[in-house]
Order: sequence, then structure tokens, then C-alpha cells
Amino acid sequence: MTELAFTRTTAERRSQAERDAILADPGFGNYFTDHMASIVWTKADGWQNPEILPYGPIQMDPASSVLHYGQEIFEGMKAYRHADGSLVAFRPEENARRLNESARRLSLPEIPVELFVEAVRELVTIDADWVPSGADQSLYLRPFMIADESFLGVRAAERARFLVIASPAGPYFTGGVKPVSIWLSETHSRAGRGGTGAAKCGGNYAASLLPQSEAAAQGCQQVLFTDSATDDTIDELGGMNLFLVRADGTLLTPRLNGNILNGITRKSLIQLAKDRGHAVEERDITVREWRAGAADGSITEAFACGTAAVITPIRELKTADFTIDFGEAAPGAVTLALREELTGIQFGTREDPHGWIDVLVEA
Ligand code: PLP
Ligand code: COI
Repeated sequence: MTELAFTRTTAERRSQAERDAILADPGFGNYFTDHMASIVWTKADGWQNPEILPYGPIQMDPASSVLHYGQEIFEGMKAYRHADGSLVAFRPEENARRLNESARRLSLPEIPVELFVEAVRELVTIDADWVPSGADQSLYLRPFMIADESFLGVRAAERARFLVIASPAGPYFTGGVKPVSIWLSETHSRAGRGGTGAAKCGGNYAASLLPQSEAAAQGCQQVLFTDSATDDTIDELGGMNLFLVRADGTLLTPRLNGNILNGITRKSLIQLAKDRGHAVEERDITVREWRAGAADGSITEAFACGTAAVITPIRELKTADFTIDFGEAAPGAVTLALREELTGIQFGTREDPHGWIDVLVEA
């Protein structure tokens, strides 16, 4: 543990009846718990003043760097309620490490991994009643960091703030594991060589909103981006990594090419698939290969994965010129088996062979 101790200012924003009504059907990202965690950083004094505060607006000088140059990074993770009443996180240190990789790219300060996990633990402890217990429900946690120095010169800010907020969540896509349609963006790129594609920074998501609305206009739930250099090599979806499954059980997923997010779900699924005897190829995959493989029957399944999406089967990839449609074959058997395995570990109904579960609050 760090020597920094959190001070706690508590407040109950909602009655138990209001909370129960929200937890019965939270959707995704609509409601927030009673508290938030906050830690301040200055270049001169480092990390200081860790606090649990009532959830609410944060005050910021209008000249704060984040408002002008977008110096912001975030994480997405979940707390799960196990049957014995304990509250757990899935590989939280991986989120802390990835936040620090994003911090390096965005010239923000790195935060000690233990301090990150402690902030999450403090928040989940105080808002424990907000962790839902329904099927496929969890408490979505959103750690993020903003630069809040008031200075208009373009340089790395010397003041920043790390916060964690929490939101009770059901499935990201309405319809649960219902297979989704995705749209190939042929006019916009998400990332390019040397850019910020591998960082989890707000700007990447701002840039994905126009292509995402184009996808929605085509009746699709997510947008697929290709490498801007080839317009054919698959990168990832707006907010998820992508896997294809071959008829022989081999999993294919784009390699970490510096432009895509190093997904913790992706990494975990690669391990679980190997444990189950699947071959896994992390390499360049093209839309052309997917199209040809679906046509000749050698590629039989596709799925999206991420903290919010968990594992979401993909039914079809639509493009301006053609559609790759798995039809009634989606969701495929490999997709469903991996989903069951992963969620079983997260929700505590299956063994956790790799020690990925971290108990935040004991039963
Ligand atoms: N790719 C992008 C662009 C994302 O936003 C996410 C979600 O966090 C992922 C991939 C999946 O990452 P993870 O599995 O760590 O949630
Ligand atoms: C997550 O999965 O945590 C993300 O940040 C992606 C977004 C679609 C909510």
C-alpha cells in the first residue's frame, strides 16, 4: 500500500428505493453512484490529497489544459458481486498499467499501481450497495485523468487530477448476447502510425463519433476501422477488439500493431482459448481474408470483446459494396463457450486458474 490515506466525505444522493429501482434496470452508463474518488497531482509535489467525495460536478478553471488540448485518458473496468457477497475486480492492475501507458503517450503523470487500485477499492467499498446482483450486471468503473493547469501555451500540464466514478451496468448492447451488425468505415480512420491509437484517450473516441453515427445510420451497432495505410488490414472497432474464428477452431485477432488498444479482455481470451487447446494467431488480418473465409466456410464466427461489450457475437460486417453475413450461424459455439468461461471467472461461478480475480471487499 501507499502511505497516502484517503479522507472520506460521505453523502447519500439517493434513497434505497431509488437505488433499487435503478439497479433493477440500469442499462449502460446512465446512472452514477453516491461517491467518487479524487487524487491531485502537481509536478512539484507529486500525488497528494486522495479523497472520497460526494459524486458531483468538479470545478475547473476555464483555461484548464484538458478543455483546450484534450489532455485526458481513461480506463474501463468492472466490479462484480459474487454469490458469497464479496465484491471483486478482474485484473485491476492491468488497467492501472495501461492507464500509465496512456499517460506516457499523453504526457500526463503516471500513477502508482497500488494507488490506482486503492482508489477503486475505496470507491467500491463506500458504494458497495450500488454493485448489482442481477444476471450480467456489474458496477462499471471509470478511472480517468485530466490535466487541469490553467495555461494556454501548448506543453504538458504541470497539474492533473485522477478521478474514479462508478455506474451500475447491464449489457452494453440492448438485447444481451444478440449478435450485432458492424459497419466498415471506409472514409475515416481511427489511428495512424505514430498516433495515439494504442492509448485510451478521449480524443480517439471523439474522432470515432462521426463514423459511429454513420454506422448507426446503416443499422449497425459498431464501426470497424482498418489500418489507414492499407484500408484493408483490420484494426479494431470503435470501442472493442475483434476476433475471427476459423472452422478448425483457430482464433484470429489483429496483432498489437501500435494503433489498437491492448485490450485486457482480448489478452484474457487469448489465454483462455489457448488453455482450451485453440491455436491463436495474432497477426495482420484483412477484410479480404474475412470475406473469402466466410465465403468458402473456413471462417465461421466473429466476435467483439471489451470490458463493456464482454464478448458480443457479430452477425454481419456491412460495407458500401458487400455484406459478410453469418446469418443464423451467429452466435457461434466457440464465441459462446469463451463467453461462458470468461464471465464464469468474473462472476465467480468458475475456477479462476490464472488468479485474475482481486477481492476488493470481503464477504
Ligand atoms: N478497443 C477499444 C477502442 C476500447 O475502447 C476498448 C474498451 O475498453 C477495448 C478495445 C477493449 O479493451 P478492454 O478489454 O481492456 O476493455
Ligand atoms: C470499455 O469497454 O470499458 C470502454 O471503454 C469502451 C466503451 C465502448 C464504453
